[in-house]
Amino acid sequence: KKRVAILVSGGGSNMVSLVDSMLKDADHPGQPCLVLSNNADAGGLTKAAARGVSTAVVDHRPFGKDREAFEAELVKPILEARADVVCLAGFMRVLTAGFVRQFEGRMLNIHPSLLPKYKGLHTHARALEAGDDRHGCTVHEVTPLLDDGPILGQAEVPVNPGDTPDDLAARVLVQEHRLYPAVLARYLRGERDVLHLS
Ligand code: GAR
Repeated sequence: KKRVAILVSGGGSNMVSLVDSMLKDADHPGQPCLVLSNNADAGGLTKAAARGVSTAVVDHRPFGKDREAFEAELVKPILEARADVVCLAGFMRVLTAGFVRQFEGRMLNIHPSLLPKYKGLHTHARALEAGDDRHGCTVHEVTPLLDDGPILGQAEVPVNPGDTPDDLAARVLVQEHRLYPAVLARYLRGERDVLHLS
């Protein structure tokens, strides 16, 4: 099996969907080897531990603006866990090109918009402001440019009249939990055609 490290900053619901998809399917091509966070208070850490997955924390704050020094520590538990693939799942630190290149072709991210629309933050509010009638989420391979890189899968949701950003976020999150595990399994099997869920 391919060893999968998952990086989280917060609640970790996408991480749970990935871990559970691997643990519940004996034939899954992946196994979770590490859940790593920049935030010691991330709810994802307790959820990972409850599932028997190793956890680690590298706090970004002591490194200030020195991203490279932070990443020099962040990479250590990933290498110690002998991860084959790295999944960013609500990991809210921007990664430098140098870090990304160490995992080129084996790092995935989930982003809460239909990329290439709405890279960066506040994606749900921006979709509402634009008057979009469709919104969704994307899983893509990570390249040095933020929220760029080859798209591996997308799931769409409708935007309904009167939706708030929170309404939309909740509707998209349900689809994230379907999309990311499906894309990861395909990715580990070497499939690179784009998955479309609706
Ligand atoms: C998810 O909606 C994910 O797409 C988003 O953060 C949330 C994390 O939730 N990621 C980004 O915005 C990345 N820039 P989770 O911790 O419950 O998985």
